[in-house]
Amino acid sequence: MAAGPSLTRLLIMIDTTPTTQPPTTGHRSAPVISGRGLTMTYGSGPSTVHALAGVDLDVHPGSLAVMGPSGSGKTSLLHCLAGIVRPSSGHVQYQGTDLTTLSDRLRTRLRRDDFGFVFQSGQLLAELPANENVALPLMLGGLSLREAVGRADVWLGRLGLAGMERRRPGELSGGQLQRVAIARALVTEPRIVFADEPTGALDQRTGAEVMGLLEHAVVATGAALVVVTHDPGVARTCARTVTMADGRIVAEHHRPQAATAVAR
Ligand SMILES: Nc1ncnc2c1ncn2[C@@H]1O[C@H](COP(=O)(O)OP(=O)(O)OP(=O)(O)O)[C@@H](O)[C@H]1O
Ligand SMILES: [Mg+2]
Repeated sequence: MAAGPSLTRLLIMIDTTPTTQPPTTGHRSAPVISGRGLTMTYGSGPSTVHALAGVDLDVHPGSLAVMGPSGSGKTSLLHCLAGIVRPSSGHVQYQGTDLTTLSDRLRTRLRRDDFGFVFQSGQLLAELPANENVALPLMLGGLSLREAVGRADVWLGRLGLAGMERRRPGELSGGQLQRVAIARALVTEPRIVFADEPTGALDQRTGAEVMGLLEHAVVATGAALVVVTHDPGVARTCARTVTMADGRIVAEHHRPQAATAVAR
């Protein structure tokens, strides 16, 4: 990562933002989103794949890591919870609504307004500077370019990218790109951030820094983070980990201390 404010300084900047709400300890509070009996089946006949084979999961404010071997259904679960795809069967409850019965238009609007997304890499528009990439979801929500870019610059500053607002993705390092992606996920102040291997393309140290920023930023705003990861180091910093195998949750681990450490 390029020289800049220390990680500790960045975390303090995030924790002292005016929007900061009292942190929660995660699993003791009411769920933000709940999946029940989720199945996802691809194909038919002998080539049928049961990507999800019956998953129940409550997501609470705070951080939740989803682990498990390749092909175990992590991305499928994330996509069902986030309303990106409809499960083959089962329900996803969010604020009194079953996402699986919403029209595509309403699900799209919900994703835009209430959810934030961070993926492994890419997803930024190469021709736009960092702050316009971050501003995009706000502009899709109806804000003017000027106002949206103003808010984007604030988030880029919180994530240690002050001075780099006008750089295009090709002029940023992998860790910086992921911080831009985090700023874009958080600028709409989502209630849930879904992240699919957000540090998968980074070296371990940069990945740990990016993950620390993501977790602190999400927890400081009182939101929930669902992060798919192969990295046990990432999972250790999360308040809770569920492990998947063959489309099911086969283990669950709580770390209240981690939640407290993240929140303070
Ligand atoms: N669109 C699709 N069509 C057919 N099969 C699919 C599709 N998407 C996923 N699958 C299959 O569903 C299973 C679960 O996939 P999923 O992407 O959820 O796994 P994952 O745990 O995220 O794996 P990875 O760690 O490799 O990202 C896999 O066997 C995969 O091949
Ligand atoms: Mg995956």
